[in-house]
Amino acid sequence: MLKTGLVGWRGMVGSVLMGRMRDENDFANIEPTFYSTSNAGGEAPDVGKGAGVLQDAENIDSLKEMDVIISCQGGDYTKAVFPKLREVGWDGYWIDAASALRMSDDAVIILDPVNGDVISDALDKGVKNFIGGNCTVSLMLMGIGGLFREGLVEWVSAQTYQAASGAGAQNMRELIAQMGTINSTVSDLLADPRSNILDIDSAVAQAMRGGDFPTDNFGHPLAGSLLPWIDTQLENGQSREEWKAQAETNKILGRSGAPIPVDGTCVRIGAMRCHSQALTIKLNKDVDIKEVESIIGSANDWVKLVPNDREVTLKELTPTAVTGSLHIPVGRVRKLNMGSQYLSAFTVGDQLLWGAAEPLRRMLRIIQE
Ligand code: HSE
Repeated sequence: MLKTGLVGWRGMVGSVLMGRMRDENDFANIEPTFYSTSNAGGEAPDVGKGAGVLQDAENIDSLKEMDVIISCQGGDYTKAVFPKLREVGWDGYWIDAASALRMSDDAVIILDPVNGDVISDALDKGVKNFIGGNCTVSLMLMGIGGLFREGLVEWVSAQTYQAASGAGAQNMRELIAQMGTINSTVSDLLADPRSNILDIDSAVAQAMRGGDFPTDNFGHPLAGSLLPWIDTQLENGQSREEWKAQAETNKILGRSGAPIPVDGTCVRIGAMRCHSQALTIKLNKDVDIKEVESIIGSANDWVKLVPNDREVTLKELTPTAVTGSLHIPVGRVRKLNMGSQYLSAFTVGDQLLWGAAEPLRRMLRIIQE
């Protein structure tokens, strides 16, 4: 059994990972050691093997005894600890949710239903660093990976609708607090059926622009609004989130040398944990829409083609329908007026599952095969 160290298992992504590992009985096949950056010596979670003691997540001597380390602790931890571990000659597998090592030449971005071949080639070559992808990129590829696999994609433009969870647990709380503030500002007016909607609207706008509106985490109102910038600003006018789309898509597909253009605008909206994306895809040839649907819908066990029908779409293709599930619905699939090679699609996915935790636990399984 692989000695497996888990770091950052208590945070949001880590908790989702723990839940999935319990659901899939992953702990039965490993010898887990739980690490903590703040509570070494405390009680470790009981995953069916008796509760052990939390080890110090900064202790290189302890970490280097592991065959595998899975970290959901974040990029600062990775940058501080990972180089030290390699310096002392540690040769184990490093599986990480953080982006810090993602673009390193000696790391592979893991999304095995899409790039299982890239992962197995890397394992054969002795690669030891396996890093989870950006959530938006992973969810896009889980949705339309079939079109890439068939070599049909000339370029993709993704306009995203990203949930609060991508910014962190505190941001999810803040979104709800903002919703609550909006409601409480106008609750008296709302309760009066004769009140004027424009009075309600202006009271809401005033509250959202006011100094008391809770914005410590987002820096701006999100509830009742949206934020068309995610992550830092790059010199070329892209946000870092937008930059990742092309860089990571092509790295995942193992084609960074001949990249397929992927670009668009990334936008934060007031959903909780599901990222949605409106995709414009330029196909490199005219493919019948039925064949397109079949290629998309059969690419992996989780993608589900939603017929381009109003009722089904509004029932199945929303964050509310998808949250907490591993399903990746893709719908609104149709040819655009621009021409028969221009395809439109819309996809939704839980960014904490396929967008973060799921590829990590699956990588642990792959190492065991
Ligand atoms: N950067 C993503 C977001 C988070 O802000 O939504 C996960 O990669």
